[in-house]
Amino acid sequence: MSDQPARPSERSVTVLGLGAMGRALAAGAVAAGHPTTVWNRTPGRAGALVAAGAREAASVRDAVAASPLVVAVLLDHASVHETLDPVADALAGRTLVNLVTTTPEESRELAAWADSHGVTYLDGGIMAVPGMIGGPGAEVLYSGSRAAFDDARPVLDTWGGSTWFGEDPGLAPLYDLALLAGMYAMFAGFFHGVAMVGTAGVSASDFARRAAPWLAAMTAELAGYADVIDRRDYGGPGQQSLEFSDPSDMVRASEEAGLATDVLAAVQALVRRQIDAGHGADGFARAVESIRDPAGTPAPTPDRAPTAGGAR
Ligand SMILES: NC(=O)c1ccc[n+]([C@@H]2O[C@H](COP(=O)([O-])OP(=O)(O)OC[C@H]3O[C@@H](n4cnc5c(N)ncnc54)[C@H](OP(=O)(O)O)[C@@H]3O)[C@@H](O)[C@H]2O)c1
Repeated sequence: MSDQPARPSERSVTVLGLGAMGRALAAGAVAAGHPTTVWNRTPGRAGALVAAGAREAASVRDAVAASPLVVAVLLDHASVHETLDPVADALAGRTLVNLVTTTPEESRELAAWADSHGVTYLDGGIMAVPGMIGGPGAEVLYSGSRAAFDDARPVLDTWGGSTWFGEDPGLAPLYDLALLAGMYAMFAGFFHGVAMVGTAGVSASDFARRAAPWLAAMTAELAGYADVIDRRDYGGPGQQSLEFSDPSDMVRASEEAGLATDVLAAVQALVRRQIDAGHGADGFARAVESIRDPAGTPAPTPDRAPTAGGAR
């Protein structure tokens, strides 16, 4: 992993896709003085960029031919193939930076496709919304060709912090989607809390003022959980047990108030699978094993027969 700054220099870059994110990235490259060519499937979205100094290509083939560095900011994995398959010959000898959100396997597939056409491949996961691009909070995670990463740094660094995770092109999307998984689950928990206090007439804004510092303080627990998980030391001292962590009281309170319990039920299912397997006295972090082994075999208990999974 590396986050060393690169020497400032100029690179010609093509940005394919002028949705909200593509426009932000292209604007960042233009503002930094890199000769920038842009293309969008639907014409008419390049006006402000052209006014700022970008060149709009009439076709994707012209766009690809314009720069040794081609950045895809399209919708999804399928749109990358749809756009680039017909111009693979023009892409040969160039570097493709794929910033489209893809799964790790989709990124590896694109990297293999690129390799088979003589294209150098770098994958990227954007940890920012368009308004953050170029600002202090923006991070883009990369994996794939290290040489391409180093060479493209003058452009990449105009968008935010740039970190390279390794030659496996699937690593950046893996981190990207893992971080988003944590974020979405946290927001869903917040929404559930909003619904709970809302039954007493408390506004979401009031609740947010209390929830933000609480959740921020709780992130201090992550390192401790991580240490336990890395050592698989779920029986070690000082851990809050799974029995104690079962969110039954939160579920009951929600049911009493007539609320849906989907968010809590997901947490409860992870906890209960470990309790059912006989690990109720172990620490809460053991719930990660319910995710790692969705077909885990619950140990029989006197009042609860195994429900799912069968033999390993
Ligand atoms: N926005 C964010 O906050 C954010 C954050 C992180 C990552 N990302 C990722 O960045 C990528 C772009 O996001 P966005 O926010 O810019 O999306 P967007 O505003 O919906 O724009 C989508 C872009 O993809 C193009 N496109 C869609 N299907 C296509 C196809 N079959 N062939 C060619 N072009 C096609 C669209 O062109 P048309 O104008 O012709 O429809 C448009 O330029 C996505 O993969 C997204 O997951 C976005």
